[in-house]
Amino acid sequence: MTDSTSAPDAVLRVAIVGTGAIAHAHQQVLDADPGAAVVAVADPNPEVRDVFADRYGIAGRYGSLDELLAAEAVDVVHLCTPPGLHRDQAITALRAGAHVVCEKPPVLSLADLDAVLDVARAAGREYAVVFQQRTGTAVGHVQRLLADGALGRPLVGVCHTLWYRRQEDYYAVPWRGRWATEGGGPLLGLGIHQLDLLAFLLGDWAEVDARAFRLDRDLETEDTSTAVVRFANGAVVSVLTTALAPRQTSYVRVDTTLGTVEVEHLYGHDARAWRLTPAPAVTGGPAEPAPDSWTLPVDDEPSGHTPLLRAVYDAFRTGAPLPPVASDPARSLELVTAIYASAALGRPVTKADLAPGSELRGGFLHGIEDLRPVVAGTDA
Ligand SMILES: NC(=O)c1ccc[n+]([C@@H]2O[C@H](COP(=O)([O-])OP(=O)(O)OC[C@H]3O[C@@H](n4cnc5c(N)ncnc54)[C@H](O)[C@@H]3O)[C@@H](O)[C@H]2O)c1
Repeated sequence: MTDSTSAPDAVLRVAIVGTGAIAHAHQQVLDADPGAAVVAVADPNPEVRDVFADRYGIAGRYGSLDELLAAEAVDVVHLCTPPGLHRDQAITALRAGAHVVCEKPPVLSLADLDAVLDVARAAGREYAVVFQQRTGTAVGHVQRLLADGALGRPLVGVCHTLWYRRQEDYYAVPWRGRWATEGGGPLLGLGIHQLDLLAFLLGDWAEVDARAFRLDRDLETEDTSTAVVRFANGAVVSVLTTALAPRQTSYVRVDTTLGTVEVEHLYGHDARAWRLTPAPAVTGGPAEPAPDSWTLPVDDEPSGHTPLLRAVYDAFRTGAPLPPVASDPARSLELVTAIYASAALGRPVTKADLAPGSELRGGFLHGIEDLRPVVAGTDA
């Protein structure tokens, strides 16, 4: 193992594990970084692995992470594998002395996340999770306005993930839509992105009241869920997540004492997708002009893997802690866990329900069906 990770000029040796769809996004960002070189990939599917390695000119090709680590010295391991593998692969890579960059969802339960973070701390390595909706110039600006109080006090909000995923292709992939391998349905697999953005803007949650439904897809998990989330700052947000919406959209909105901030997009946003509307001076009257501080920066960079991985690699090179765009992976996983737990238990779930050592923290996502089945779409 080399330890070039906190030498600012060193070229970091990188491995990508899982060379399916999202691995290309990682590779393309790393290709543009002169301070990083992807030296090896691992994937048990030789066809997918070789097409990927040939395309990007990668010499090291292995059938598993263990084989890769036995043969190569790497500083960073990217996990682009199905979610059910993230826990064990992260622990293996961290114990081998590498930093880990893991695709969302981080792992399948909060207890698993605790285990991974314990290993990272003991190894002195970082575990960065890809929640790229937090990134981009506009979201950073809005987050600061909310944190500083420049946007007033958050009161209510909306968080919609209205996406469309077909049975025939998306859910034909064997690991999807099953508790053991995906850990959940569209809430964990898709909705976690907007929930993560929402929680990045509003901070800690306090209580969740939720329902889960299987309306149309042939899944083990839900295909649709609803929730009311109360945040610690008092804001109340309505959350709807579905894989059944033909006109797809992602929408996050927060109404405060001073105005409305909202973003509508699909898989990523830039300043044009954000809108800040000041409250009218008198009810029904014209809106006040927006304060100058609300103006979004002109040097706009969209959200995505590029700003996220750049910030993470800067931290690796300098030895700094992970930046806010890549830290606190528990925030949105807690919300997802609380939504599933509330739907299954048929009661609101609070932060205290997910305290360290609690049953809900430990792998509950696998067991929702044993408690209260996801509600079917019809009474037939
Ligand atoms: N951030 C995003 O916007 C985004 C988008 C899509 C997917 N993802 C996440 O990325 C992860 C992968 O999703 P995907 O769509 O690329 O899936 P995929 O099925 O296209 O690719 C997964 C790859 O992992 C390989 N694999 C399976 N077992 C392995 C093992 N033991 N070791 C190494 N490789 C193994 C498979 O052969 C496959 O090539 C998931 O966690 C998913 O949620 C994130």
